[in-house]
Amino acid sequence: MYIFQVAALLIALLYYGNAQTSTVAVNPTILGSELSADGLKQLAAAVAPQSPVFHPSRGSYFSLNLLSAFPEDLEVSDYCVELLAIFGQRYSTYVNCLVSAARPVKVCQNCYGTHDNLMEIYTNISSDQMGPGNVSCRDSLLRSDRLMLVFLLYNNLEDIWTGSECNSCVSLGLHSLTNDTLYFMATLNQSLRCFEKFQQGNHSALCKECKATYRGLNELYSRMEKNRTLCIDIEDSMNMTRRLWSKNFNCSFPRAENVPVIAVSSFMLFLPIIFYLSSFLHSEQKKRKLIHPKRAKSNTSLVNIQDRLS
Ligand SMILES: *[C@@H]1O[C@H](CO)[C@@H](O)[C@H](O)[C@H]1NC(C)=O
Ligand SMILES: *[C@@H]1O[C@H](CO)[C@@H](O)[C@H](O)[C@H]1NC(C)=O
Ligand SMILES: *[C@@H]1O[C@H](CO)[C@@H](O)[C@H](O)[C@H]1NC(C)=O
Ligand SMILES: *[C@@H]1O[C@H](CO)[C@@H](O)[C@H](O)[C@H]1NC(C)=O
Ligand SMILES: *[C@@H]1O[C@H](CO)[C@@H](O)[C@H](O)[C@H]1NC(C)=O
Ligand SMILES: *[C@@H]1O[C@H](CO)[C@@H](O)[C@H](O)[C@H]1NC(C)=O
Ligand SMILES: *[C@@H]1O[C@H](CO)[C@@H](O)[C@H](O)[C@H]1NC(C)=O
Ligand SMILES: *[C@@H]1O[C@H](CO)[C@@H](O)[C@H](O)[C@H]1NC(C)=O
Repeated sequence: MYIFQVAALLIALLYYGNAQTSTVAVNPTILGSELSADGLKQLAAAVAPQSPVFHPSRGSYFSLNLLSAFPEDLEVSDYCVELLAIFGQRYSTYVNCLVSAARPVKVCQNCYGTHDNLMEIYTNISSDQMGPGNVSCRDSLLRSDRLMLVFLLYNNLEDIWTGSECNSCVSLGLHSLTNDTLYFMATLNQSLRCFEKFQQGNHSALCKECKATYRGLNELYSRMEKNRTLCIDIEDSMNMTRRLWSKNFNCSFPRAENVPVIAVSSFMLFLPIIFYLSSFLHSEQKKRKLIHPKRAKSNTSLVNIQDRLS
């Protein structure tokens, strides 16, 4: 009896094993013969319903379950969730502003308000000051995990702000552009209006009429360069104006620094001429002194030659 049972079990096992290997053997042939995109899709569709991995709804169900399983003191407080929501709103407002001010660059002049707002809420999040209910959001929002997403997001935007050197154009305390920046914008406006007025037809008129305002703009810019009150907005607008002037309008460059350069280089140009001239005169003088005793003799021979020729 016992032996029969064992034999039956063995047969059953063998049969089961056969069935397994046959399915395993069949699958590669399917894969091999139908490696087209359509075939793969069909295969995926056939496998998906049986496989738990392919259930997107079940995944979120699990994570929800996990989240609600944390005890209350590990959860983020309502106050911090609220701060995070405000941070998100201000972040996207600021990013939208940056993107729409990317070309031509108006990042500093258009977005300093939204930047201020974002900075303010981040200060609230990162301060160790206790909010209502004795909670500080710094630990729970900023450094509870390896990714530190909020910190990372904010830091990236701050890098953009620093790289633009917007702080040179915005007075921090007053929440406005600096007077230097406003003055530059007004001067730039003057030049652009002049360009607009004379843009039609002959550009040589434009070059003549707008030269004064354009030179003034360049001088103001180089003064600001020395004062280190430049930000990307000003740099870019000056860059574009210079390109407009020299490439589009074909005007010459009337920069004040050119005048001494031209003076010095023309002086250098004349130096060899002056040198040769002076050395020639000098040697002539010496020759006259050396020749002096024989002068009478050579003079008579010269006269002789002239006599013979005539
Ligand atoms: C952020 O902090 C400032 C002062 O620390 C406070 O006046 C302001 O209400 C705070 N903002 C929020 C949303 O809690
Ligand atoms: C906050 O904590 C301080 C001590 O850490 C305590 O004196 C104060 O009563 C607490 N306030 C609230 C609202 O729990
Ligand atoms: C900027 O100009 C305004 C008015 O022209 C003046 O009231 C203000 O004091 C100036 N600010 C600075 C920092 O010079
Ligand atoms: C420059 O001119 C435009 C109109 O051409 C005007 O809207 C703008 O306010 C002016 N900007 C400055 C700084 O004067
Ligand atoms: C532009 O005007 C100047 C005189 O104002 C003239 O000499 C020149 O030939 C004109 N050039 C063109 C391309 O019309
Ligand atoms: C440069 O700075 C000096 C003082 O630091 C100031 O008097 C001058 O107006 C500034 N120039 C410009 C173009 O901002
Ligand atoms: C000026 O424009 C040129 C050409 O577009 C660019 O390569 C250069 O980086 C610009 N300079 C600044 C300071 O923006
Ligand atoms: C500018 O000058 C160059 C040669 O000096 C000429 O090839 C080009 O066509 C001119 N462009 C304009 C817009 O007049």
